[in-house]
Amino acid sequence: MSRPLYERVAEALAQQIEQGVYAPGDRLPGLRRLRQHFGVSMATIVAACELLEQREILEARPRSGFYVRERTSAAAAAPSEQVSEVDAPSLVLGQERVLDLVRAHHEPGVVSLGAAAAPAAFLPAAAMDRSFARVRRRQRERVHAYDFPPGCAELRAQIARRMAYAGCSLSPDDIVLTAGCQEAITLSLRAVAEPGDVVAIESPTFYGILQAIEAQGMQALEVATDPQTGMIPEALERALSRWSIRACVLMPTFGNPLGHVTPEARKQELVALLNAHDVPLIEDDVYGELAFDGSRPWAAKAFDGQGEVLYCSSFSKVLGAGLRVGWVAPGRYRDRLVYLKYATSQAASTLSALAVADYLEQGGYDRFLRRARREYERHVRWVAALVRRHFPEGTRVTRPRGGFVVWVELPAGCDSLELQRRALVEGISVAPGPVFSPSGRYGRCLRLNCAQADPTATQWALQRLGALAAGEDRGDVRG
Ligand SMILES: Cc1ncc(COP(=O)(O)O)c(C=O)c1O
Repeated sequence: MSRPLYERVAEALAQQIEQGVYAPGDRLPGLRRLRQHFGVSMATIVAACELLEQREILEARPRSGFYVRERTSAAAAAPSEQVSEVDAPSLVLGQERVLDLVRAHHEPGVVSLGAAAAPAAFLPAAAMDRSFARVRRRQRERVHAYDFPPGCAELRAQIARRMAYAGCSLSPDDIVLTAGCQEAITLSLRAVAEPGDVVAIESPTFYGILQAIEAQGMQALEVATDPQTGMIPEALERALSRWSIRACVLMPTFGNPLGHVTPEARKQELVALLNAHDVPLIEDDVYGELAFDGSRPWAAKAFDGQGEVLYCSSFSKVLGAGLRVGWVAPGRYRDRLVYLKYATSQAASTLSALAVADYLEQGGYDRFLRRARREYERHVRWVAALVRRHFPEGTRVTRPRGGFVVWVELPAGCDSLELQRRALVEGISVAPGPVFSPSGRYGRCLRLNCAQADPTATQWALQRLGALAAGEDRGDVRG
């Protein structure tokens, strides 16, 4: 006799948990959605969840739903490698090698798990096209003219409104438009520091931040960073007392590559610490709106009473990187920023700024954002599950709660630069750990971009990467 339906549904759910579709601590979708998903009655889905509760795979929380118990997937712990103590500051060198990733991203036939860019399938391309057409029609003269800094007033007004969700009360005059978040970071660095100055950074950190530091001839100082909660205040305090630090750059919300979120109390603590030492904070919040659970963590900027936080972001991760629309809320450095933006590139793109302002005015952004968050969550879980399935024993992968990258730590002896080289020969691009550190740490880590439009190619690529990392085939990515 076949087993009862609720047992088979329970088994299927347990398998999804095993494969990482739902991670420990996650809330399962509501019973109604689960019921629809499995095509069964409410009584069956309730019985299946209760069975998993008895088996200590799920935990029921009153008025909240079913959660995956923490101990069910011990095999997939978060990466452990971190900077144990503060090193000496050093110049950043050799970041040109990141261009390999960028080139591979557009190479036909390459599965691009390297660059953190979302393909068009994840973007509201059709709605943006309509906005472009509308502003071209309605503002024909204006789209052909300079949009001098601080830039398009309509867009700054829209951004100021959205910044309230991040806990920041700003006026449009507090915002300067830039060509993406990368330019916002570069201009912020130039506003507060000079060549040779020391900049404290998280470790690992986004390579774009290292490139901005390198381009200005500044020095980077890696500060111990918790893979879950970001820069450790005690480590920053030790660094501040030991070195003459001129600025600090943090990604406290869904940092790239770790996906960490610095709790709000800790953000406040870090801002206060930096304030006490008169060190400006450059905050990169480019993933801030991409929380899977729909919450919008407050930015460190929300705790800035002194105008010492230069908040940088862009629409690259939600509306499209090709728009090149970003901004900085530079606090008391606003006039300097306006001048630096003008001196660097005269103006931002008028057409893009007007089109984004139009898109936001149409009112579809939040609806789209809800969909985008769900899509990114699905893809992050899926890629993490494939890593767990195909990579060698001892591999660890992060479980970010927002954004769309995961950080993978391979077992001891693996070399991610060698893996990158071998994978590229097979048409797979990855971002190796050392490009996220000025001192070349993280030699056995990788960052993977989970925003992939082609499931078959992605599955194949992760399977191949796992085989290469395990030393199968040619057998020598392990030392
Ligand atoms: C953390 C982080 N900051 C900044 C950027 C650059 O963003 P933009 O394309 O808006 O310049 C990126 C892009 O990958 C990023 O991941």
